[in-house]
Order: sequence, then structure tokens, then C-alpha cells
Amino acid sequence: MLEVTGLCKRYWPAPDEPASQPSAPRWLAHQLSLQVAAGETVAVLGASGSGKSTLLAMLAGLEAPEAGTVCVDGDDVTHWPPERRRFALMFQDFALFPHLTVQDNVAFARIEQGCRKAQARQEAVAMLARFGLADRALSPVTQLSGGEQQRVALARALLSAPRLLLLDEPFSALDADLRQQLRLDFSAHIRSAGMACVLVTHDEAEARAMGQRGYRLVGGQLQALW
Ligand SMILES: Nc1ncnc2c1ncn2[C@@H]1O[C@H](COP(=O)(O)OP(=O)(O)OP(=O)(O)O)[C@@H](O)[C@H]1O
Ligand SMILES: [Mg+2]
Repeated sequence: MLEVTGLCKRYWPAPDEPASQPSAPRWLAHQLSLQVAAGETVAVLGASGSGKSTLLAMLAGLEAPEAGTVCVDGDDVTHWPPERRRFALMFQDFALFPHLTVQDNVAFARIEQGCRKAQARQEAVAMLARFGLADRALSPVTQLSGGEQQRVALARALLSAPRLLLLDEPFSALDADLRQQLRLDFSAHIRSAGMACVLVTHDEAEARAMGQRGYRLVGGQLQALW
């Protein structure tokens, strides 16, 4: 269970930026609070520049909030480094390692966690099988289609057993059919793995399809949509 309380983050306009109110800060998070239960997906919509990616970066530990706390399963992780949080962050461009095979991309995080290479590869192939990609385990990852690569990225995220899955526009590079299929795949695995998930998207249909609850980020605060 993720519990975010009183998160604050603001930026001042750069000196050369024409500001309507000189030196007024722009709030990306302003006393922002949010709870996400295990197995639940919460969708966050919002205009470009409203702070959605910054919110995920603060949850992941890549950006520090000015105030507020991030707790997961009772641990206050606000000041923990990203690698200690066991959160998985997936971006639109899925950042796979182009020089590695499919299975080694998936096994990577487990090996980082100290798992033996042979064991990690075995686990990676089993996870790939859940996404219909076991027979591609030894392919160079660059030979896969965009949708297949996105499944590899999800398999990698799930293999390290994250407590929280953070998705930033995960399907925006894909065509409509594939988006729909992957929404279903992702939702099923999020539920069965019992992870908490925060999904950022511009696509309200996608947000409604995947999110049990949905919010719009405006002025640094979350307005409930459903
Ligand atoms: N380090 C920084 N210093 C100053 N401004 C920043 C910094 N990081 C982000 N910003 C600004 O904060 C705003 C929010 O950025 P963010 O990437 O979180 O928006 P977003 O909601 O994810 O937008 P999009 O939908 O386009 O991805 C942007 O206007 C960005 O320029
Ligand atoms: Mg963004």
C-alpha cells in the first residue's frame, strides 16, 4: 500500500521566461496526498507540464520533494535512494539495453539484486512465457516490435517484484489494437502480483480502462474524476 501525504514541489520560472506574475512559483505538487492499495491502479491525467512525470519521479526517489512523505507498506521511504525502494518505473520509450538479448534485459534487475546469472535467466524465461515471448528469449532485443519490447519492459519490471509500479505514458508509442491488448495484460498482472500502480497518461480511455480510480493533476493537486 502506497501512502503519499502533503507532497510539495514547485519551480520558479527561469529568468528569461516571460512570467505573468514575476517570480511567482508554479506548483507541481501542493499538499498532494494519495493512497493506492495493493493490486490497485490509480490513473493520473493532466495537461502537459502539469507535473505528472515529476510526481512519478518523486515517488521513485529520482527527485526530492520539498515537503511531504512517501510511505509504502508502513516504511517511510521519503529519503531512501531509488534502488532501495523496490519501485519499478516504466517510461514511454521503455529504455531496454539494445546490446543485450531479451532474456538478459529481463534478468538484469535480478542480477543487480544479487541473484545468480543462471537462476536469473531461468526466472526471466518463465516471466517471458507469461507474455508469450519465451521463444524470443535469445533474440537481440532490437529485433522485437514496439509492442513486444514493451512486454519485455513489463516482464523486467515484474521480475524484480516491485512494491509499486509507476507507468509514465507506457503505451503512447503503440497502435490502437496493441494498446488495448497491453492494457488488459498489464491490468491482469498488476492485480495478480498485488502491486500498487500509478499510471500517468494523456489518454482518458486508457485511464478509465486501467484505473480503478482516476484524478486530474491541476495546480499541484489531485482532483478526483472517478
Ligand atoms: N528541474 C527543473 N527545473 C525547472 N523546471 C522544471 C524542472 N523539471 C521540470 N520542470 C518543469 O515542470 C513542469 C512539469 O514537468 P513534468 O515533466 O512533470 O510535466 P508532465 O505533466 O509530465 O508533462 P507531459 O504531459 O508533457 O509529460 C514542466 O513545465 C517542466 O518544464
Ligand atoms: Mg510527462
